[in-house]
Parts: sequence; C-alpha cells; structure tokens
Amino acid sequence: MKVVVAPGYVPVEDLVVADQPRPEAGPGQVLIKLKAAALNPLDVKLSTGVMKDQMPVDHPFALGLDAAGTVEALGEGVQDLRVGDEVIAFTYGGSGALAEYALANAGPTVVRRPAGLDPVQGAALPVAAMTAAAVITAADVPTGGTLLIVGATGGVGSFAVQLAAQAGVKVLATATRDEADYVRGLGAKEAVDYTAGDVAELARAAEPGGVDAVIDLVNFGPGLAATAAAAKPGGRIVSTLGGPPSFDRDVTAVYTGVEGGIGRLDELVGKAAGGTLAIEVSSVRPFSEAVAAVVDFAAAANRGKTVITF
Ligand SMILES: NC(=O)c1ccc[n+]([C@@H]2O[C@H](COP(=O)([O-])OP(=O)(O)OC[C@H]3O[C@@H](n4cnc5c(N)ncnc54)[C@H](OP(=O)(O)O)[C@@H]3O)[C@@H](O)[C@H]2O)c1
Repeated sequence: MKVVVAPGYVPVEDLVVADQPRPEAGPGQVLIKLKAAALNPLDVKLSTGVMKDQMPVDHPFALGLDAAGTVEALGEGVQDLRVGDEVIAFTYGGSGALAEYALANAGPTVVRRPAGLDPVQGAALPVAAMTAAAVITAADVPTGGTLLIVGATGGVGSFAVQLAAQAGVKVLATATRDEADYVRGLGAKEAVDYTAGDVAELARAAEPGGVDAVIDLVNFGPGLAATAAAAKPGGRIVSTLGGPPSFDRDVTAVYTGVEGGIGRLDELVGKAAGGTLAIEVSSVRPFSEAVAAVVDFAAAANRGKTVITF
C-alpha cells in the first residue's frame, strides 16, 4: 500500500510516498481502508523533528492521525464493530492515516460514521474537535461567563468557538478583519483582530474587567504571559502547547491536549451529523497530491481543516 512517510527528521518538502506492506490488525485493533484523512499541525511537528525531544518518532515515520474509511479487518477481541462499517477514527497508537490502509486502536476514538456525514467532514473531526472539547472543559467557564480564544479560525479554534457559544459563554475570538464575520458566524460575540495590536489590550477594551478564561492555541512558553493578561484575577489560561506552571498574576494555567474520553468523539460526530457543529474544510486534495498538501499546510495557516481524499 502507499503511505506518506518521513524517512528521517526532514523538511516537509522531503516527505515521500512509500510502498509498504498492508498492516495487520493486532489484538484490539481495527484496520481501516481510507476514504479521507485530515492534516494537523502535529503531523508537521512530528515529521520535521520540532518535537523530537518531547515526542520522538521511529523512522520511516508514517504521518496522519485523523481517518475516515471502511473497516477492512478486525483484530482479536474487537466486539462492537463489523467488517464493512463506515468509521471515523483517531489513529494515534495505530498507524499513519496518510495511507491507503491505517490501524486504529478500537474503543472510544473509533466510532461509526453516520450516513449524513461524508468522509471528508468525518476525517476533519477527531483531533481538532476532541482537542476543542478538552480545552473548553479545561477553561471551565460558566454559562454567561466570558472567554477569549486565540487561534479561533484554525482547526481546533473553529470547533472551540462553537462549543463555547453553544454553552452560553460570551466568546471573544481572534480573527483578522477578513475573518471577523467567519468567527461571528461560529457564535463569537466579538472578533479581536490580532494583527491590529496587543490581543490582551484589545480584549480588555471589549471586556474591561478581563475575561474568565483565555484559550490560547497559538502562543506557548513564556509567550503565554501576554495573552494571560486578558484574564481577570482568579481566571484561567488554557494552552495546548505548554508553558510555565504559573504567571506573575492571579491566573491559573491549565495545559491539555487531544482527549478521547469515552463517548466524546461519538458525541462530537453526533453534533456534526445533527447540524449543530459546523465543520470548516478549506482544502480537499487527492492522495496523489498528499505531499504537496502537507507542504502547503505547513507554509500557511488555513481556515479550518485540510483533508486528503483516497
Ligand atoms: N496538545 C495537543 O494534543 C494538541 C492537539 C491539537 C492541536 N494542538 C496544537 O494547537 C495548535 C492549534 O492547532 P490547530 O489544529 O487549530 O492549528 P491550525 O488549524 O493551524 O490553526 C491555527 C490558527 O491560528 C491562527 N493564528 C496564527 N497566528 C495567530 C496569532 N498570532 N494570533 C491569533 N491567531 C493566530 C491562524 O489564523 P490565520 O489564518 O489568521 O493565520 C490559524 O487559523 C497547534 O500548535 C497544534 O499543534 C495541540
């Protein structure tokens, strides 16, 4: 089968399409014949070696974490799926999803794809939507509270804005002027143009006492202090990228990431199929262009998700 691999820690331009034997489903695993796979920043970070100290990988490294396709085979002990089922899967711990076939560990992160959700939309969900649910849970803003989301136009951010707004939270979302209507359409009350000045100052102009929480999907390390300044005393800052344990002000830092708790992907898939969670797919490319798609994805942030079809 064909699979996109990094032969070592290489620039994305040096990714290759390799021929590898089709993997066998081991105990507890599902073998999926791919229909669509979505790209995530982590694919780029793992293959280029940006994260090699925190998350080293073996080579050749097969990229891809988000899959939609058909169950081709089931490993021993998998009870609740059948060969031929249409599924959506997070393939971390299995094998790379930018491949004609991929393994995923059966459980709450492999769920049936409802007929109303096509494979492109389905593949766009796992990492970004599960991470969005995780950051919203970590932000713990009550109904009627306020939340600044930095990176609101991206894969994670576009889901996080919707989930927070649906929970009755007043969302301030970063967006360039061109994208302001987009984030408002997702449910944000205010768009904060991050190119027009200091984000925390702009947010405080809209919410003078500060927000209950900040979800920052862009900055990391000491850089989080600048956006943490938008939070009110006793507030929170949530990051998917990590940073210091505390700041020199009364703001609690919470670091989290993709979370596949039981039912969570199922719940998100259900919302998407039911029309209450919009999926923004900015680019759909055929598998024959997969390497070029990763190069383009790495070069410039896109609104929502980039999806590869097979
Ligand atoms: N720890 C985990 O488990 C985990 C899981 C998922 C994601 N992540 C990380 O979380 C981050 C976001 O992921 P993603 O999939 O949402 O990425 P993404 O789709 O690339 O989105 C990033 C967004 O940030 C916006 N942006 C860029 N610079 C900005 C700035 N200075 N201020 C405000 N917004 C800015 C971009 O918008 P423009 O179009 O305006 O440039 C883009 O829409 C990535 O670093 C990813 O690696 C971590």
